[in-house]
Amino acid sequence: MNAPVTDLATTQQYMLAEEPYYRAVDAETDVYEAAYAARMPVMLKGPTGCGKTRFVEYMAWKLGKPLITVACNEDMTASDLVGRFLLDADGTRWQDGPLTIAARIGAICYLDEVVEARQDTMVVIHALTDHRRVLPLEKRGEQVTAHPDFQMVISYNPGYQSLMKDLKQSTKQRFGAMVFDYPPADVEAEIVAHESGVEAEVARKLVQVAQRSRNLKGHGLDEGMSTRLLVHAGQLITRGIPASDACRMTLVRPLTDDPDMLDTLDSAIDTVFG
Ligand SMILES: Nc1ncnc2c1ncn2[C@@H]1O[C@H](COP(=O)(O)OP(=O)(O)O)[C@@H](O)[C@H]1O
Ligand SMILES: [Mg+2]
Repeated sequence: MNAPVTDLATTQQYMLAEEPYYRAVDAETDVYEAAYAARMPVMLKGPTGCGKTRFVEYMAWKLGKPLITVACNEDMTASDLVGRFLLDADGTRWQDGPLTIAARIGAICYLDEVVEARQDTMVVIHALTDHRRVLPLEKRGEQVTAHPDFQMVISYNPGYQSLMKDLKQSTKQRFGAMVFDYPPADVEAEIVAHESGVEAEVARKLVQVAQRSRNLKGHGLDEGMSTRLLVHAGQLITRGIPASDACRMTLVRPLTDDPDMLDTLDSAIDTVFG
């Protein structure tokens, strides 16, 4: 009755079947491995679409640990993370949330875009991310001691930061922070070519377009074009869409509605691919 799920099948379900493609940029895999060895909670900081999620997937695969990912949003409650009683035909049944499952099975628990969550929701991770390594399930009257392999990882985009939406210092100061950014041009082109199948020359041009947009961050753009968007452009180009159309659709229109900015970015595409 109400047995928590800690069986092998559950663990198996969260194991990555294949090696994710991850092109290391610096010594980040060594740094992460050391942090994992210390079971230090890790915060990945950087703009959207620069490789944070792919990096955690790769590290979980490399370390041979299950990975449980939760996309955070502002409606998320502590119960969404920890679990809740559900009513069914047989009465009430406890269902572990993703954080609880991760603590029980010894997974890497990855909370993506953690700034989206409300500050008070994040407080549930506090006892898990200091020397105690426990998760109190108050409603169930149980205290889960984290499996020795459990680790907490969060991603955090400093660009979205505002006074209203930021982590409490008491939350932040539990993590070691690894800073991510778009890779150097040659590496980024290699990634775009690998992920989309475009020729090296086309990949280099896509990166050039992105770099122009990144220079406009804070001058009319909130964010430049991410590596993710360059992969999207490449995916259309390999399917026969002309580069100028593919770039307009995947690189420019998602970013802005401002007519002047649209002109600026469209002409950057024409210059690079012209
Ligand atoms: N270093 C990298 N190695 C491999 N792929 C990468 C790398 N950086 C970015 N990518 C590509 O960019 C896409 C977006 O990266 P993702 O990890 O989802 O970004 P983030 O989590 O930072 O928003 C990935 O799906 C992958 O195709
Ligand atoms: Mg991500």
